[in-house]
Amino acid sequence: MVNLKHHIDFINKLVSNGGPEPHEYGEFTNWIAQIHQQLGDGTLSKSDLDTLRSCFGEALSILTLQGFALEKPHGYPGDYEILDKIYLKHTSKNPDLRKWDLYFQLQKAPIAVRNRKHYFIELCKKLAMLEKRSETINVLNIASGPCRDLFEYLSEKNDQRIMFDNVEFDPLAISYAKNICKDYLNRVNFLHTNAFDFTSEKKYRLIWSSGLFDYLNDQKFLYLMNRVLPLLEDEGEIVIGNFSTQNPTQAYMEIMGNWRLRHRTPEQLISFGEEIKFAREDIRVGKEPEGVNLFLHLKRGKHFIPAPDFS
Ligand SMILES: C[S@@+](CC[C@H](N)C(=O)[O-])C[C@H]1O[C@@H](n2cnc3c(N)ncnc32)[C@H](O)[C@@H]1O
Repeated sequence: MVNLKHHIDFINKLVSNGGPEPHEYGEFTNWIAQIHQQLGDGTLSKSDLDTLRSCFGEALSILTLQGFALEKPHGYPGDYEILDKIYLKHTSKNPDLRKWDLYFQLQKAPIAVRNRKHYFIELCKKLAMLEKRSETINVLNIASGPCRDLFEYLSEKNDQRIMFDNVEFDPLAISYAKNICKDYLNRVNFLHTNAFDFTSEKKYRLIWSSGLFDYLNDQKFLYLMNRVLPLLEDEGEIVIGNFSTQNPTQAYMEIMGNWRLRHRTPEQLISFGEEIKFAREDIRVGKEPEGVNLFLHLKRGKHFIPAPDFS
């Protein structure tokens, strides 16, 4: 039986101050890393972790971002609501809880998520510049969630040729996204289905998916890729987001949020591309500036869509 007292004292001190102050961020991060390691080597058990989590009280309830992640009110991790709170840099108005959200939003993983919104917007802009056709450019967005990325692209009054089909299995995510994109519904279509069941006669110039494949094991990853490949135009490109093994927020996500992803290396993503018969020169792995979110690009045509600009 491990003595949890020093851990409980540490939590109580933070909770009584309403969360970590910036000068305590390092100490809190190190504490999380220690708990993560001790769970990994068996020094702490799952029930010890439950005990420690219960000491956070409201700081680990639905009222904070870390608690929202843990509670999973929509029944699955990474729902449209928490994603949009990340995009909007939401923090609680409650002064007793706000410090926890400030800490959350400063972590590398939420920053990387905000960067991937920019990655998508830039990719669409570059695609429009590259593509000379006068007719519609079809983009398929698999696991579309809140569609904050789409909304921002559309509200910048960018190229009118791009039309978006969004595959999403959560009806609440679709209502939420429809409301966000309400001024652009002539260019945005929602398909309420599981990505694994989705088929279409239509072909797409760009197939994009972020926040789905890093929840899938290797077998499902490849299965879904093989299912969506026939939907790609002859000159098309698929771009799949996946968290990198270099994710400094992994321990925080797992300990506080029980939010587990399949982290992958660029080499693993490249090998998936090769496994589904893309030549090495038709595969590239991009990343956002934090290097936390990777993007596997697979192209059928001569040129990749130029890399997104972050300057
Ligand atoms: C982490 S969010 C990502 C949303 C968006 N792509 C983004 O990056 O902001 C994942 C979304 O995928 C949806 N989703 C998860 N599994 C799915 C599946 N098998 N088919 C369709 N949608 C799925 C969830 O409902 C959720 O809205």
